[in-house]
This record gives sequence, structure tokens and C-alpha cells, in this order.
Amino acid sequence: MKITIFGTGYVGLVQAAVMAESGYDVVCVDVDAAKIARLACGEMPIFEPGLERLVRDNHAAGRLHFTTDAAEGVLHATIQFIAVGTPPDEDGSADLNNVLAVGKAIAATMDGHRIVVAKSTVPVGTCDKISKIMKLTLAETGRKDLTFDVASNPEFLKEGSAVADCMKPDRIVIGTSNRETEAVLRELYAPFNRNHEKIIVMDVRSAELTKYAANCMLATKITFMNEMANLAEALGADIERVRQGIGSDPRIGYQFIYPGVGYGGSCFPKDVRALIHIADRVAYDAKVLTAVDEQNRKQKSVLFHKILKHFGGDITGKVFALWGLAFKPNTDDMREAPSRTIMEALWQAGAKVQAFDPEAMRECRRIYGERHELVLSRNKEAALIGADALVIVTEWKAFLGPDFEYIKKALTHSVIFDGRNLYDPEVVSRYDLDYHSIGRVQFNREQPTI
Ligand code: UDX
Repeated sequence: MKITIFGTGYVGLVQAAVMAESGYDVVCVDVDAAKIARLACGEMPIFEPGLERLVRDNHAAGRLHFTTDAAEGVLHATIQFIAVGTPPDEDGSADLNNVLAVGKAIAATMDGHRIVVAKSTVPVGTCDKISKIMKLTLAETGRKDLTFDVASNPEFLKEGSAVADCMKPDRIVIGTSNRETEAVLRELYAPFNRNHEKIIVMDVRSAELTKYAANCMLATKITFMNEMANLAEALGADIERVRQGIGSDPRIGYQFIYPGVGYGGSCFPKDVRALIHIADRVAYDAKVLTAVDEQNRKQKSVLFHKILKHFGGDITGKVFALWGLAFKPNTDDMREAPSRTIMEALWQAGAKVQAFDPEAMRECRRIYGERHELVLSRNKEAALIGADALVIVTEWKAFLGPDFEYIKKALTHSVIFDGRNLYDPEVVSRYDLDYHSIGRVQFNREQPTI
């Protein structure tokens, strides 16, 4: 089978590589010529385990092509995936210009029936908008007789395990009411639909909403847990015990109930705000989602407030070692990362940061450039040298078993602020280190009076 994918971001590139690996003949189209040139040389625009090999091998085998020429992509295949970005507008609603431009380009060049598959996360009703613009373009170019169908096929991959998620999806949502489109997409996904039935077919709008509902549910779960953590701390309870206590209920489950410094990344913050806007358009006041968004913004500052309190409200001239810049482990992505809120607050208060992250150093330099209040350290030990305190923001494996003796010796003030609850407070206290985490009373401290 032949397919064309517009957009070589996370979703598009991973999908393209995985489909090519399954034997399909894939053309990737992107407007960014430099990116396309780098991809053709096997250079990855993103860090994603397993992706580089897939792209190189399939490119070399001739199953994966890269081009900036939209017409080449349109003429290549009947199935046209749209996986371009939907960046948030200033008000938080999704900007559909890129998506609609692809629809228009497809209609302007197609020479026969096309199945357009929207893979980008798009507001409910977008597939209808794509249809409309395509119809208009066909009419304008005097090619009304050409047929097409627009289906929704949302992607649920996670950064850091995108290749694995794409190869072994837990569900494949296909939004179409057209039997022929359904049959073609079922055939396309057959290599990924093994062991048990994973394909869920529904109407287009339900498929579009499914993607938002999934991400917003997970964002709500995390935010609820963060609220419980803040409450636990105020009440003298331990959120880690509470987490185990509730996670054991299969209706709640252990996943996505880890308290921390707030969710980040390219999906949750953007999608929660986008769904609030979608609701707004149909005059529905999405109170839960609005609260989730607000509470998550606040949560990103929780660690900073703990730091400020510990130092009596003045951190001018202090140096903080910061472990973890990426919004989560196994990625170099810093979009909406809590590390950014924390670093910027520290700088604003007159402090300096010595940061280390196993993957996101280059990305951090790209975002912040050279500045005297930011040192990017060689490794996690180097970040500690000459620092007053250690701040942990991302739960990379390499941070899980640290040398507390070394930390104690390296830091001027023996204190750790841990935004991910990585350590047992009792163990840390043995090294005579002050340890602040999320939703837990400090070890051997009196419980607050209620
Ligand atoms: C998410 C969805 O999981 C994925 O299905 C969707 O397609 C895209 O959005 P991703 O953004 O890659 O994927 O990251 P994810 O692993 O879901 O984590 C998102 C954020 O939530 C991170 O900042 C993470 O640190 C935070 N998180 C996650 C918590 O704070 N606590 C948890 O228990 C789980």
C-alpha cells in the first residue's frame, strides 16, 4: 500500500517510519526544507528511542521518501494523512491554518479519489471544515467530479515511547461513516491489529472528541492528585501512602496518579485549553477543565514557593543545582516544561541555576541562549558544585539512586527540593540533608495542627 503523510513532527514522522517498516511505500511532505534535507541524511529533528534506526533503514530501503513538494505527495497515494501542527492561538484555541492548507493543497492537485485522514489533534468539526475547503477548491478549479472522503484517526502516542506505542497501539480509533473508507483503513492498520481487535470505528465527530477526552481525562487525573498532595501536606498526611491506598482500587488504577510539579509537554496543556475553547463555542462552561488548567499553572510554582520559604523569602545571589529540564524522562522536549516555570522564577528572584538533563541540554540552550544566570553542567555531579541547594524536576532514571554523601558535601546549604518524590524521606534524613518533596511532611517534623 502507498501512503502520504503531511507533517514530519512527532506524530507524522513516527507514523511514517512505523508504516514504512511494515512494508508500505511512504512519502513524507513538510514545508520546512532544512528539516526535509536533514531527514533525508538520517538526521532526526527529535530525540525518540528507536526512531533513528527506523528512518535510516526504511529510507535506505526506498520505502520512506522525504519531500517539500506537496504535489508529489498528493499524486503518490490515495491515502493522505494530515499530521501537521495545530499550534495554540493566543487565546488557547487550536490554529487550523496548517491543517486546512494541506486540505486545500490535496484538492488542488489530486487526480482521482482521495481518503484524507486527520491525524493531528483537531477540534471537533475540523474534518467537516477540511471537506468544505476541499469541495470549494475542486469547484474553483473546475474538477467537481473528483471524489474524496475525510476521516478522523487520532494518535495516542506518548513522547519517549512513541515508536513502541505506534507499533503496538492499545486502540486504533477510526472516525468515518463511509464503508469504503473504513475498509481501506482497516486494511492499512491490519499489521497493527494483531492478537486482539483494536480497531474502534465511530462517526467523525466522536473520534475527534475521543482524542481530547482521553488527554483531558489524564490531565484531570494528575491535577486531582496534585490537589490531594497539597492537601495531604497541609493535613500532615503522606500522599505516597494515599496514592498506594487509592491506586489499589482497579477503578482508579496506579497509572497517572503520581503527584509532582504539574503536567507539561506538547499535548496536555494545549488540549485542555483547546477543549475549553471548543466548549465555549457551543456556549458550554467547562468548569472542571478550567479548574484543571488553572490548578496546573499553580502547581508548576509549588516547588519555587517551597524554596523561597526555606530561604526566608530572599534567594538573591543563591545558586541552585537543577536536575531535569525535559517535561518528562526519555525526551528532550521542554514545551510547557515545569522546569521553565521554576528556572524563570528563580532568575526573577535573583538566583542562578546550574542545570543538568541527560537529553535536553541543547534544547535548553536553544530556548534560553547564553545568559549569566544559567550554567549547563557536564553531568549531575558538576551541577552540584558550588550550589546552595538541589532542585529535582524530572524523574530521569539516572537521578533515582544518587550519592547522598556527595550531595551533602557539594551543597553549601544541605537541602534538596524534590518535585517528583524520588526518595524515601527517612533515607535522605540519614545523610543530614533537609528534604522537601510533594505532599509529604518532612521527616521527623511535627505534624501541622488541624
Ligand atoms: C500524552 C498522552 O499520554 C498521549 O496519549 C497523547 O497522545 C499525547 O499526550 P505525552 O505528552 O508524551 O503524552 O506525555 P505523558 O507521558 O502523558 O505525560 C504528560 C505529563 O504528565 C508530563 O509532564 C508528566 O510528567 C506528567 N505526569 C504524568 C504526572 O505529573 N503524573 C503522572 O502520574 C503522569
